[in-house]
Amino acid sequence: MSRRRSWAEPWKIKVVEPIRMTTRAEREAAVREAGYNTFLLRSEECYIDLLTDSGTSAMSDQQWAGMMLGDEAYAGSSNFYALQEAVRKYYGYEHLIPTHQGRGAENILSQVLIDEGDFVPGNMYFTTTRLHQELAGGTFRDVIIDEGHDPSSEHPFKGNVDLAKLRELVEEVGAERVPYITVGVTVNLAGGQPVSMANLREVAEYCREQGILVILDATRAVENAYFVQQREDGYSDKSVARILREICDLSDGATMSGKKDSLVNIGGWLGVRDPRIAEQARNLVVVYEGLHTYGGMAGRDMEAMARGIAESVQDDHIRARVGQVEYLGGKLIEAGVPVVRPIGGHAVFLDAAAMLPHLAREVFPAQALASALYVESGIRSMERGAVSAGRDPVSGENRYPKLELVRLTIPRRVYTQAHMDVTAESVLEVLDQRERVRGLEFAYEPEYLRFFQARFDTVGGDGIFA
Ligand code: F0G
Repeated sequence: MSRRRSWAEPWKIKVVEPIRMTTRAEREAAVREAGYNTFLLRSEECYIDLLTDSGTSAMSDQQWAGMMLGDEAYAGSSNFYALQEAVRKYYGYEHLIPTHQGRGAENILSQVLIDEGDFVPGNMYFTTTRLHQELAGGTFRDVIIDEGHDPSSEHPFKGNVDLAKLRELVEEVGAERVPYITVGVTVNLAGGQPVSMANLREVAEYCREQGILVILDATRAVENAYFVQQREDGYSDKSVARILREICDLSDGATMSGKKDSLVNIGGWLGVRDPRIAEQARNLVVVYEGLHTYGGMAGRDMEAMARGIAESVQDDHIRARVGQVEYLGGKLIEAGVPVVRPIGGHAVFLDAAAMLPHLAREVFPAQALASALYVESGIRSMERGAVSAGRDPVSGENRYPKLELVRLTIPRRVYTQAHMDVTAESVLEVLDQRERVRGLEFAYEPEYLRFFQARFDTVGGDGIFA
């Protein structure tokens, strides 16, 4: 019999940042002050911060060393060329348009490719992506497989595109009204779920026939490549770096938030193959972001990202990264907590509708659960349900997506296994008091991306716990 040999993180800790546990009274006051919106808490009020994996990663000593090599020339920074080389090598896009972060790339791409009245299919919406498509005059259409909306389905590739839904849209409105499809790899709001290579190949083939471009949201494509390696036939012997190239090779371009996979605190890019699209994008980048050789990033940021990209595709790195998320998810599943399954790449998603069945969707159970978890433990999480989904731009009605989730998002290389244990124990504490959690109603609702800055009042009394 062979003994089990655990894997461990392929790094050791050189610098630490103290965190402080607050009292329950402090947290009750803080969350009230924040209008029951975890986005409005101060960082110092949070013990374990699982709001997002965006820009919250720990950089390596090599990346920090690269920061000192920042070439802050306005034009033609050497760090731009290092970044361009890294994107060409690992993602394969010839033309790189740097942006301040992912949504900068989404804005530019949407303006270049979408005409008023166009339709843009995608495998589930993402908040900023859909908004930029709508602002450019387009209408988003969800073409993810049904399993993507079912938190209990164990489908290994819940991010897959449903080809029948895509064909139906194209037949309904005509291919000339569909400039491109956005394929999220992985799909954040489905729970960090991957797309299979087989599915991506089918999508690419169909879209080529129809003259529709395939644009990846490559924000967490390395995590997607890892799932392909682990789950798809024929890929177990291939490196994550090679699989990542294979994923990108099936697309015409990508928008990227470097703040996730690429292990940096800020930055993003648009990558394309078509030189005409690149030229139009370069014309717009100078309007919205900065010169085409920095796009809103400092030289040092571009250097850190170039180095972060190379680190992000290392097999042992990505195994430890996704492995830590799976560790937390496994603990919660074992304890009977309803979570989105299988466990995704960047986060564990609590099924708030199932956890708080006494709260109607109209009083935002996921928003309430995030507040309750914070008060109980100091852990900051994020709502990913009806508040995030916003209102329909035509009818003005609230959109109620099937998934009403709270996301426990794991920053890369930041927290230890003990932090994951505390997190799982804290969720169980809230579950024990679930009937006492109160619903929420809007006190202030911003027009765009309301989840970031909205404020709420508790329904039926003061305090998130009755
Ligand atoms: N696409 C996906 C799939 C994302 O998750 C994000 C950001 C973006 C695009 C936009 O990138 O923030 O750099 O402008 N997601 C963060 C999150 C905010 O917490 O999930 P950005």
